[in-house]
Amino acid sequence: MDLGIRGKVAIVTGSSGGLGAAIADRIAAEGCRTVLFARSADKLERVAAQLRERHGTEVLAVAGDMTQAADVQRMVDRTCEAFGLPQVLVLNSGRPPLKMRNVLDETDDERWRQAHETQLWAPLLVLRRVVPLMQQQRWGRVVAVTSATVKQPMPHHGLSTVYRAGVTGLMRHLANEVAADGVTVNCVLPASIATDALVTSYDPQERIKRVPLGRLGRPDELAAAVAFFASEPSGFITGASLQVDGGMVAALC
Ligand SMILES: NC(=O)c1ccc[n+]([C@@H]2O[C@H](COP(=O)([O-])OP(=O)(O)OC[C@H]3O[C@@H](n4cnc5c(N)ncnc54)[C@H](OP(=O)(O)O)[C@@H]3O)[C@@H](O)[C@H]2O)c1
Repeated sequence: MDLGIRGKVAIVTGSSGGLGAAIADRIAAEGCRTVLFARSADKLERVAAQLRERHGTEVLAVAGDMTQAADVQRMVDRTCEAFGLPQVLVLNSGRPPLKMRNVLDETDDERWRQAHETQLWAPLLVLRRVVPLMQQQRWGRVVAVTSATVKQPMPHHGLSTVYRAGVTGLMRHLANEVAADGVTVNCVLPASIATDALVTSYDPQERIKRVPLGRLGRPDELAAAVAFFASEPSGFITGASLQVDGGMVAALC
């Protein structure tokens, strides 16, 4: 399928590794001028060099912290200077602090604050600055990476579920508010995708027991779902949440 986004300007946050880097790779493969944003400048430059070499597309790497408004504004300004107004925004973010525990065992207020800033506040800071630029163009695609815990809470995942559910609410409101401007807003919900962070934080064999497909997912499988929501042909889908979880969520929708 031609995704119809060749030449468009795409921002992928949290893209120095893991799912964010896989999503940026897929978006660059579709011919988007791609902006990478994360804190580790060296890792970002490595990902940028790989994407340029593999896909021959223009890639801009901006190092910064997405929980900090000034860094987010600098990233948006640099995007506009280098490539023009953004049309695709993928909101991938950092993980909650590990190791996660039962809700009543999470007694450290600092961990709750950190989880809130990383997962909910940071996407809000980014989208407030980027979505109005899409409205000006009367075309845009916003895709947030949340978690399948939003549909099926997993043991010890309160620090994730609480704020990802917040992001889901934020995206659903935004979808209604910007639909008339030709901007779609959707969520992709990973679970058990084999990133370095996942396989070093959890026992992969224990994880696989929860997955009806009987294996961990690949980052490129998650990236394919994101790329579909970023595409021209997905234009009649907004406000949706699609899990990429090997069948883990045991619900009708
Ligand atoms: N893998 C799964 O199956 C799964 C399941 C459910 C949810 N998720 C969620 O999906 C997201 C990606 O997962 P992952 O496994 O790829 O995690 P990861 O390897 O930890 O990647 C997180 C990315 O976000 C960046 N980041 C973290 N904090 C940041 C900040 N304050 N500002 C800017 N960038 C920041 C990191 O780069 P820097 O350190 O360089 O900033 C990195 O590029 C996470 O939020 C995770 O919780 C994943």
